[in-house]
Amino acid sequence: MAQNIVWHSHALNRAQRENANRHPALVIWFTGLSGSGKSTLAGVLEQALFSQGVKTYLLDGDNVRHGLCSDLSFSEIDRQENIRRIGEVAKLMVDAGLVVLTAFISPHRAERQKIRALMEEGQFIEVHVDTPLAICESRDPKGLYKKARAGELRNFTGIDAAYEAPEQPDVHLDGSQPVDSLIEKLLFVLKNRGILPA
Ligand code: ADX
Repeated sequence: MAQNIVWHSHALNRAQRENANRHPALVIWFTGLSGSGKSTLAGVLEQALFSQGVKTYLLDGDNVRHGLCSDLSFSEIDRQENIRRIGEVAKLMVDAGLVVLTAFISPHRAERQKIRALMEEGQFIEVHVDTPLAICESRDPKGLYKKARAGELRNFTGIDAAYEAPEQPDVHLDGSQPVDSLIEKLLFVLKNRGILPA
């Protein structure tokens, strides 16, 4: 716990940045199995938002694990720390006025709940990319399911590590459906929430 440290409030705040950007700042948190389509969907959605003038940033599991979280493994405790760091970074980016898209397996309900609690009401949109394990495994873009099945990779989510699906996600996507239709659904939700002009 930090000691002898006092929070400093700055004159320029989030509301002013949101005003300048002409949209609210928030987190769109994609969760789902490896290969479920999180990164693809977050990437396509980011492009759609960006082309409409929304200030965005995409935090992606595989990329963040090359830098900020390169010291972390896939043990339960390190996954918790991975998600904790991402949550803090996302919070800073929301404070900076951005629409932050995140694509992490984030397998634990409790950790996702902690991030929701870090944000203000309505600032955390949990998107469950619900793709059956068999489909993720057949896609196997990085050949990791194959390795996990062969016992060469331990603690692989969905194989020998748990994935706790959201019970009440803000958005539920059937990941076996075409990307275009899922993006349409997401854009509809964002319009309803006033993030995009109707
Ligand atoms: S999380 O569980 O901590 O949220 P994160 O999203 O950062 O995971 O990273 C997941 C990516 O790491 C997967 O898409 C996969 O490419 C790779 N990976 C490597 N080892 C594992 C593993 N044991 N379990 C899950 N994903 C793994």
